[in-house]
Amino acid sequence: MAISSPTGVWWRQPLERTELVWIVIALVWCLIMFFMMPYWHIYGEQNLANEAYRSKPEDFARKTEEMIAKYKVREEGGDLAIPVVRPPAGSDVYLIAQLWRWYPILELEAGKSYRIHLMSMDWLHGFSLQPENINIQVHPGYDHVLTVTPTKPGTFSIVCNEYCGVNHHTMVSRLYVK
Ligand code: CUA
Repeated sequence: MAISSPTGVWWRQPLERTELVWIVIALVWCLIMFFMMPYWHIYGEQNLANEAYRSKPEDFARKTEEMIAKYKVREEGGDLAIPVVRPPAGSDVYLIAQLWRWYPILELEAGKSYRIHLMSMDWLHGFSLQPENINIQVHPGYDHVLTVTPTKPGTFSIVCNEYCGVNHHTMVSRLYVK
């Protein structure tokens, strides 16, 4: 059966009561959500104070290598020999995302702050820290800085959560907090 046209001038007809109730509920909910954004930005505990700067992948790779040369404590991953870096508290820490790995592995201290810099060397990747709920897009050419203070020790997983090609699913790493 086809939908029949409304009779008369439909927008002049009175609102049905339930429709009015739902419009009011939806409006109130919209307003709650709207004011939650600034509220959560100020009082939420998981807002990343983030900054981003345009920068060249080569420069970023050089800074990463300099950091590794200074603060490498061991290697992991068997033949892959991925350096594990323990940078001093308060320092700038670099993490490279590239097809299909995170480089290097970071070891941080609980209760200390770090400026973590993220950049992709090729195309879009996603930084997802598990089991914490932190998700950041990692772009080539942008140095994305997060000021973080790990609150509890443990071994966290870093997972790429932007599809980046055939080995996307292998793009995983760790983050140690001592
Ligand atoms: Cu990198 Cu998916």
